[in-house]
Amino acid sequence: MLTENIEIIKTKDGSIGLYDKSLNEIFHSIYGAKTEAFEKFIQPAKIIDNKPLKILDICYGIGYNTKCALENFKNISFIDCVEINKNLVLNSYKFKYRDDIDKIIKSNIEKSDLIHFYIDDIRSVVKKLNKKYDIIFHDGFAPHKQSELWSEELIFNISKLLETDGIYCTYNHSKPVLKALLNAGLFLGKTLKDNKTIATCASFNKENIINPLNSYELGQLNTKSAITYKDTFLNFTHQKIIENREKELNNSNLITLSHYKKIMQNQD
Ligand SMILES: C[S@@+](CC[C@H](N)C(=O)[O-])C[C@H]1O[C@@H](n2cnc3c(N)ncnc32)[C@H](O)[C@@H]1O
Repeated sequence: MLTENIEIIKTKDGSIGLYDKSLNEIFHSIYGAKTEAFEKFIQPAKIIDNKPLKILDICYGIGYNTKCALENFKNISFIDCVEINKNLVLNSYKFKYRDDIDKIIKSNIEKSDLIHFYIDDIRSVVKKLNKKYDIIFHDGFAPHKQSELWSEELIFNISKLLETDGIYCTYNHSKPVLKALLNAGLFLGKTLKDNKTIATCASFNKENIINPLNSYELGQLNTKSAITYKDTFLNFTHQKIIENREKELNNSNLITLSHYKKIMQNQD
């Protein structure tokens, strides 16, 4: 059903997850593909579920975030999905979610009505989209595998697609990604589970952020560890982005994260 390098795995909530052998990277949390979609992408955006929602699902994969949005939001205007792997999109309705939702996905793959699929690199699509979205899901593979999905430039371009009152959601809470979101002018929030950060939400509207980063956490974004990934023309390879970041780290006058933590401890 899928390409050779993609394996099917069962996650702990019983839902199916995928594993990419060539990248040695999982698509979905082993704790539960379905649970992850709800907790990291849907729940934080629930705060604006009071109007017809325009949604952008970046890195659609087999569509858990879109399916979970269809299951949970009251009124969806439309969903635009971006995914580079056509095979995943075409087969996504076969990964059973809920009968009525599987049917919606299948019919929209055949003829776009509520959901539109962009089968391309998000770095090209982002330049062509001239709409604004209430909710943006950003679910790329981790930066150490695909830094091109998390560059400051890409995040800036994505942020331009977000409505002033909109919410951006990602599982990623690494410092370079938080810094890129901050540089794009967004307020940052932590998505918490059992008091631990499991994801990030961001908005241009402060009121939409339930658990904002505190001053200590914001201070960490002024250390070397938060140096962002740079992809000036949105066409660098992962290797080039990582090499350039290494050079920037070596030449940087910023303090290290551990130094910052020591300074802050001594102030207590
Ligand atoms: C972590 S998985 C996303 C899982 C997905 N949200 C789901 O529910 O199945 C990352 C996805 O990003 C896609 N991808 C990788 N590079 C991309 C790119 N440059 N543009 C768009 N999608 C990309 C991969 O094919 C993969 O499906």
